[in-house]
Amino acid sequence: MANQGVNDPIHEPVNAGRRRFLTATTAVVGAAGVAAAAVPFIKSWNPSARAKLAGAPVTADISALQEGERLVLEWRGQPIWIVKRSKAVLDALPTLDGHLRDPRSENPEQQPAYIAEASPELRSIKPDVSVLVGLCTHLGCSPEMKAEIRPEPFDPEWKGGYFCPCHKSRFDMAGRVFEGVPAPTNLVVPPHHYADDTTIVIGVDPTQTNSAGAA
Ligand code: FES
Repeated sequence: MANQGVNDPIHEPVNAGRRRFLTATTAVVGAAGVAAAAVPFIKSWNPSARAKLAGAPVTADISALQEGERLVLEWRGQPIWIVKRSKAVLDALPTLDGHLRDPRSENPEQQPAYIAEASPELRSIKPDVSVLVGLCTHLGCSPEMKAEIRPEPFDPEWKGGYFCPCHKSRFDMAGRVFEGVPAPTNLVVPPHHYADDTTIVIGVDPTQTNSAGAA
């Protein structure tokens, strides 16, 4: 993989089980990012500038992302997961609908409208690439990725997804929450779009002129 430097986003293998995320240095676009790079210490670097940078979109090259891998970024202080889903996982998603609380993404708070309209079950722009805020909607822990389809101690019929060990909430590989768990809603899909086939921009809703997005 080409970008394994200290400042690169994290590529995690399946079932890494890590609950941390690092502050990934990603390409920061927009005027705030340019200003920060050019004049990091002058007085203009004020709370307002920092706030702008904190909310600025981040970009990621996903060309090296393999099936079952997860790329972790940070946007607005939140972990952002970019996960490449296998065909087997995609095929399994519709079979889960009857076990889910909001299988068709009807809660408008959990994803931008253009995602819900275009892909209510996969919750993504490209079918194989899922983008989620990696925080449980119960109390905000970062769930573990359990991407393989295989029996798990918490679910013998497991079809891949995310498991939050603190209170045992479960989500599928689209971030849809199962019924009967403490988490009330699906994981959040942040506003995002593709600048080109393998460059993803987090924090921009392409249907809005304001790049602040909806999450
Ligand atoms: S924070 Fe995820 S189940 Fe409690």
